[in-house]
Amino acid sequence: MTRLKPILNADMDCQLLYVCESQKSQVESLKSLIAEYKLSIILHTELLTDKLTQKRRQQLTTLVTHPILLLDDKNKLSWLSDGLSVAPEWDKLQRRVVSAGRKSELLLQAAKITADSHIIDATAGFGHDSLILASTGAHVVMLEQQPLMALLLLAEQQRMSTLPNWQKLMSRLHIINTDALSYFESFNKNPSADSSQLIDVVYLDPMFPDDSYQDSKTGKGAKVGKHMQALHQLARPPTLDEEQQLLQSAQSVVSQRGQKQGRVIVKRPQFAPLLAHREPSESWSNEAVRFDGYFF
Ligand SMILES: C[S@@+](CC[C@H](N)C(=O)[O-])C[C@H]1O[C@@H](n2cnc3c(N)ncnc32)[C@H](O)[C@@H]1O
Repeated sequence: MTRLKPILNADMDCQLLYVCESQKSQVESLKSLIAEYKLSIILHTELLTDKLTQKRRQQLTTLVTHPILLLDDKNKLSWLSDGLSVAPEWDKLQRRVVSAGRKSELLLQAAKITADSHIIDATAGFGHDSLILASTGAHVVMLEQQPLMALLLLAEQQRMSTLPNWQKLMSRLHIINTDALSYFESFNKNPSADSSQLIDVVYLDPMFPDDSYQDSKTGKGAKVGKHMQALHQLARPPTLDEEQQLLQSAQSVVSQRGQKQGRVIVKRPQFAPLLAHREPSESWSNEAVRFDGYFF
């Protein structure tokens, strides 16, 4: 796998390919998102003159000097990277979102949220878990440190907000391009006087080494999917020190609820060690994943 240059504080050069002239306004709207959300991305746009066949798309994924985004004829924004084409594709989760409940979703068993809950998904990624959390009626603040991922999320939220069936759910998602640790720090320094803004659940799904999704002895467990493979080029797993800080500051965020119990839920591959080596209050697992719950 080719790792892209990590983006720290520098702006990231990104090439945006679009397939027809009529998409100019869509391209402008992506530029507006970058400006409005102050994403550190420099977008170079280019009209794709040849036909976008599967083969051509595959070829484009092998150009890895800088990230390539593709706006297809359905205005879906994908990231082409190292042989992969990935996009949030929230519409593909429709069935899961519609039928999501504590029986069908382990995450909802662990998070125990209600329609009026407020959640921070501190590691939003492609936003799939945020959608499941928001399917309950809860409000979800989605933190994502990588500007490229934040742009994919914002563009997807914009696209899905045009679909009547999704508008309510979309309005409950609030995407922020930031590092979770700095967000938690300012949250904990400036506690809200408004009790409706208190956070019931912080959800953490940090990166994990790409060889650790299966049990090293039995080989059992989930294979890493293409979304996760792509993410491994942009983001790295936290160090032990960062894991400790994440858990500690997430704990402080949910502890602001006074008498009411708050939860930090951590997603791990089924056989992965505990985050920050810390024993959870309770765990839920299936053959692929484990959710460790810390109650405060
Ligand atoms: C494993 S993925 C999360 C996948 C996500 N749960 C989903 O459903 O698509 C981890 C994501 O968290 C982001 N991330 C990791 N550490 C972060 C941090 N400290 N602050 C904000 N985002 C972070 C990474 O850039 C990556 O996109």
